Amino acid sequence: MDVSTKLFRSILLTLAGNRAVESLALKYGLRLGASKFVAGETLEEALEQVRVLNRKGIVATLDHLGEGVRHLSEAASFQEEYLRLLDQIRITGLYANVSLKPTQMGLSLDPKAGYSHIHNIVIHAKSLGNFVRIDMENSPFTDATIELMRRCHAEGLTNVGTVIQAYLYRSEEDIRQLTAEGANLRLVKGAYKEPRAIAYPQLRDVDANFKRLIAYRLRSGVYTAVATHDENIINWVKSFINEERIPLSSFEFQMLYGVRTPLQEQLAREGYKVRCYVPYGRKWYPYFVRRLAERPANVWFIVKNMVKR
Ligand code: FDA
Repeated sequence: MDVSTKLFRSILLTLAGNRAVESLALKYGLRLGASKFVAGETLEEALEQVRVLNRKGIVATLDHLGEGVRHLSEAASFQEEYLRLLDQIRITGLYANVSLKPTQMGLSLDPKAGYSHIHNIVIHAKSLGNFVRIDMENSPFTDATIELMRRCHAEGLTNVGTVIQAYLYRSEEDIRQLTAEGANLRLVKGAYKEPRAIAYPQLRDVDANFKRLIAYRLRSGVYTAVATHDENIINWVKSFINEERIPLSSFEFQMLYGVRTPLQEQLAREGYKVRCYVPYGRKWYPYFVRRLAERPANVWFIVKNMVKR
């Protein structure tokens, strides 16, 4: 990555946490172009998109957007929304599970309440035969997020997993322990701004670590989601599973709604399990800005959309 791209990415990731810019952006709603990455502001709109994906043989994970809540009442209403979401998945018969963020559930305000909200959602999901993915946020929450999952597992609630980020130096050790515990994990490169003291600053090192972690997991046989749009990594996974005779049933590819859609469809046609991460809701701003930071060309896509109006 050249210096200007790095700087651009860093500015965008800083803006992702800026409340003033967020309220300005929300005024213009999804019209600004966020609808490329966000399935809608309502659950009904999101379910419609999942229906379209399911028809193409792609399953989904639904994310009701929200993070870093400032009041516990907000976290409690997010919990209610997830319970409703799980019910709707059951009622509609769609192939989807759910993803949520710990700080959306109040983890940073009151860890006990955050745990209780997530625990209630996991219990409800279990009663419906469904699964909950706890997304991984920035590094102040890594330990607490892993701990949340472990506490659920200790109670026999194994229908919950979390995410490991390849950019963190600690991830290799986390993967070893969590694999021994049988935890269902999603592996990603990592989407937040992290200091070089704890995270690989160079993309090529992140990629090399990502491959190491994927290989370790696929060899272990513990169910793994490989979440990436990187075709080099995806092709490498395809060769790896052929060489090592890894069963297709032990992993899935995951990609984000609106990103590399033809590739998602192609992998599904080739017989791989593909899950699309489908975010929806009013709180789309930080999610949207992280997507822009991942690929500066996305900013030009948005600008073009604005000019066309
Ligand atoms: P990379 O960024 O190298 O991109 C490879 C290629 O994919 C690019 O060249 C481009 O063509 C395309 N691409 C990637 N991002 C794009 C975008 N936004 N728009 C258009 N094209 C794009 N992170 C995290 O920290 N915690 C989490 O819980 C999750 N959860 C998660 C779930 C799922 C299903 C996915 C796919 C990703 C995440 N992530 C995440 C995000 C992840 O950490 C990472 O930031 C992005 O996936 C981008 O990295 P890639 O692996 O796609 O590779």
